[in-house]
Amino acid sequence: MSEEQINLFDLSAVAPAALTEPPPPQFDPATIPTDGRVPIPQGTYDSLASLAAHCGQCQRCGLAAGRTQVVVSRGAPKAAIAIIGEGPGQSEDEQGIPFVGKSGQLLEKILASVRLDMDRDVHVCNVVRCRPPGNRAPTPEEIAACRPYLMEQIRLVDPKIILLTGATAVKGVTGRKEGITKIRGQWMEWEGRLCMPIFHPAYLLRNASREKGSPKWLMWQDIQAVRAKFDELQGA
Ligand code: URA
Repeated sequence: MSEEQINLFDLSAVAPAALTEPPPPQFDPATIPTDGRVPIPQGTYDSLASLAAHCGQCQRCGLAAGRTQVVVSRGAPKAAIAIIGEGPGQSEDEQGIPFVGKSGQLLEKILASVRLDMDRDVHVCNVVRCRPPGNRAPTPEEIAACRPYLMEQIRLVDPKIILLTGATAVKGVTGRKEGITKIRGQWMEWEGRLCMPIFHPAYLLRNASREKGSPKWLMWQDIQAVRAKFDELQGA
């Protein structure tokens, strides 16, 4: 009998390649631009996994120092609809997943009301991937430092529709500075994609009324318009 017996408990010796986990992409920290003004060119990442691995080591702005976890994405890796928020809050920072706190739970309900599942049908991310201290809005410098990741994420996910939750997301993605109350519910084209500004769910949590014309009522109009556009684009 051969001395070289297969160890039946060492599955790596026999497992087909597809069943083994791919090793996480390795980055030499020296190659990561630590200055937020250094560009990261389009096409740098071949997958959300490599983008997330890079984000996990990112020091491009001051938010890196305060993070528990970097918060990159939730939901489908390829999706017809992307939803972009402002930045992680405390729950997101702890769990490393966008929109898992109270705002996220409300967003989940809003999507479910038009038969969209937040983990299956849409892709969710933020303009910044680390929690701003005290839940303040991210600064223009922080947004600019994180923007290459956002642009790469949009390229990889390739959504036809982008929902921008709140004025910070609208400004962070399109550069438009109008108040959210004025532009919510309006389709706008940005880089060949259809974008709709919507209220941030945190704003809806502060406004309980469901009366006609209230923020919650307006959100209900907007999400139905999104569902109709989604169906139209799918040819349903
Ligand atoms: N608010 C956001 O804008 N993003 C999150 O991920 C959570 C709350």
